Amino acid sequence: MLVVRDLRTSYGKIEALKGISITVNDGEIVTLIGANGAGKSTTLKTISGQLAPVAGSIEFNGENIAGMPAHKVTAKGIIQVPEGRRIFSRMTVLENLEMGAYLRDDKDGIAADLEHVFELFPRLKERISQKGGTLSGGEQQMLAMGRGLMANPKLLMLDEPSMGLAPVVVETIFEIIQKLNADGITVLLVEQNANLALSIADRGYVLETGEIKLEGTGKELLANDDVRKAYLGEG
Ligand SMILES: Nc1ncnc2c1ncn2[C@@H]1O[C@H](COP(=O)(O)OP(=O)(O)OP(=O)(O)O)[C@@H](O)[C@H]1O
Ligand SMILES: [Mg+2]
Repeated sequence: MLVVRDLRTSYGKIEALKGISITVNDGEIVTLIGANGAGKSTTLKTISGQLAPVAGSIEFNGENIAGMPAHKVTAKGIIQVPEGRRIFSRMTVLENLEMGAYLRDDKDGIAADLEHVFELFPRLKERISQKGGTLSGGEQQMLAMGRGLMANPKLLMLDEPSMGLAPVVVETIFEIIQKLNADGITVLLVEQNANLALSIADRGYVLETGEIKLEGTGKELLANDDVRKAYLGEG
């Protein structure tokens, strides 16, 4: 579904991605793990069109989308749920969700997806008129994911959904990621919680200072000594 080849992205003179290649197959959960500053968010932002790469290609279902503007990438079904949620704090839960569907005009589909989001996150339905900024951290993450779902994603890219959340909320969020995947949404998951991410991922990549250092199945990476030392706090 997604084939990224030799991707390079820079911020001025700083090269944040030094030629990375990753593949995400239809139906998979693929995770990208790595320390602070490794380039995880930069990778997602380049795929979603928020940043233009300096070099390399990004193929989505056979089409090169590298450098394509973000709204066009969104329209193709690549949806990013950003780090730090980025919900609209002065808008209500419902308005935030409606914003997710801004590129769509299929009213029936939008209404059905709204119902689906409320089924997945009953908490959001209870708070439908509450302002986004007054939600708890976990509720904001649910809202950010719900807003992403309202765009009808084929590939859902999640940037650190577990960040700052209590373990029980993280568990809920990860169960929902797995449920969405079982329902047919392909997932590219960026996480610092490597243990959790690798435990639900089909495959994973380890990113270090802008380069892919290791790749393998979730199981292989969880068992890898270097990964255990560097990212799972062992040894
Ligand atoms: N807007 C920017 N301007 C300049 N440098 C940036 C910018 N955004 C990111 N960088 C740099 O690019 C590198 C990669 O950053 P990125 O945000 O992709 O890392 P990350 O892996 O997502 O880290 P984290 O786990 O902390 O979210 C870092 O060295 C960072 O300082
Ligand atoms: Mg990041």
